[in-house]
Amino acid sequence: MDLTTLTRPELAELRAYVPERHDGIVAKLDANEAPPLRSRELSEIAMRAMSKVAMERYPDARALELREAIAARSGITPAEVFVGTGSDEVIALLCTALSRPRGRNPAGVVLSPSPSFVMYRVTARAHGLKAVEVPLDASWDLDVRTMSLAIETMQPNVVWIATPNNPTGNAMSAEKVEAVVAAAPNALCVIDEAYGDYAGKSLRGLRAANDNVAILRTVSKLGLAALRVGWLEARAELVAELDKVRQPFNVSAVSQAAVAAVLREGGEHLQHVVDAVVAERSRMSAALAKLSGVSVTPSEANFLWLRTERPAEEVHAGLLAHGVLCRSFHQSGGRLKNQLRVTIGLPEENDRFLVALTKVLA
Ligand SMILES: Cc1ncc(COP(=O)(O)O)c(C=O)c1O
Repeated sequence: MDLTTLTRPELAELRAYVPERHDGIVAKLDANEAPPLRSRELSEIAMRAMSKVAMERYPDARALELREAIAARSGITPAEVFVGTGSDEVIALLCTALSRPRGRNPAGVVLSPSPSFVMYRVTARAHGLKAVEVPLDASWDLDVRTMSLAIETMQPNVVWIATPNNPTGNAMSAEKVEAVVAAAPNALCVIDEAYGDYAGKSLRGLRAANDNVAILRTVSKLGLAALRVGWLEARAELVAELDKVRQPFNVSAVSQAAVAAVLREGGEHLQHVVDAVVAERSRMSAALAKLSGVSVTPSEANFLWLRTERPAEEVHAGLLAHGVLCRSFHQSGGRLKNQLRVTIGLPEENDRFLVALTKVLA
């Protein structure tokens, strides 16, 4: 049997996600995870909740306790919260539900700036949707004119805007996000705030004022990536539609219990992690500013976006030789050839990176 007669044609252009693995890595700074700075108290809150889970039972299909905890923190109602196994799953379910072909488009369309989180494109293609990308401007901010033009001509179902953006680390200008939202009254604009805690600000207010806006959030970047919990804050009608396309028990009972407890009782401990990473981000940015051969985009996330004079591929290989793993974007070519992304880690990992980079660039 020829499998290609069965598989979706778009799969031919996709590759499975395989994280880079190397021997001898002492500083793993490639995946935008938080460093292990979780307090003992925070671990205890999570463990206590997990130990109470009835393992012979299916999870709560409505994830009510978790949605209540999220809603209370965000100042909204549980009916406006949709939870998934990571925001990755929420992105996929939005692609499932919001896929109606519109106008003369033979398939649904999603639009995102570029570079941005790759799953917007990959997930769309895996669902047979068209993915349109509009380059960010020279400061890695939104190009409102071209975005608006693309919205007008392509009639996207969904517009993705990550702020702070991955991989560039900067927050998009609020007025530019607002302008894009205004240009897309017939699309769902998903503002992905996966790194919002590190920016210390949110565009939730924009959602309150616009019914075409939803906010995507996750606990993955706060030191809880293993639990795989992300959520959408959106109007209740959209949550109800997404409920129709998810698996009935899409978030594990253990994850529901742990994240609900952490959000209810562990807020200040989560903030300690954020504060420690933000302090390291300032220290790293200042140290890198003194180094020649590298420039850094001001970051509001838990990682830095570096441009090196030497090709990123060589710098990445040089860092690896010193046991430091970061992400190079040289494969994307063009203006990303000399760009690297490095996650803020523990102070000793960050020092290791700084020493290694200084040697590699010398
Ligand atoms: C902008 C952005 N959104 C969403 C995600 C996915 O996060 P999650 O772990 O919640 O699936 C990531 C992960 O890197 C991200 O960078």
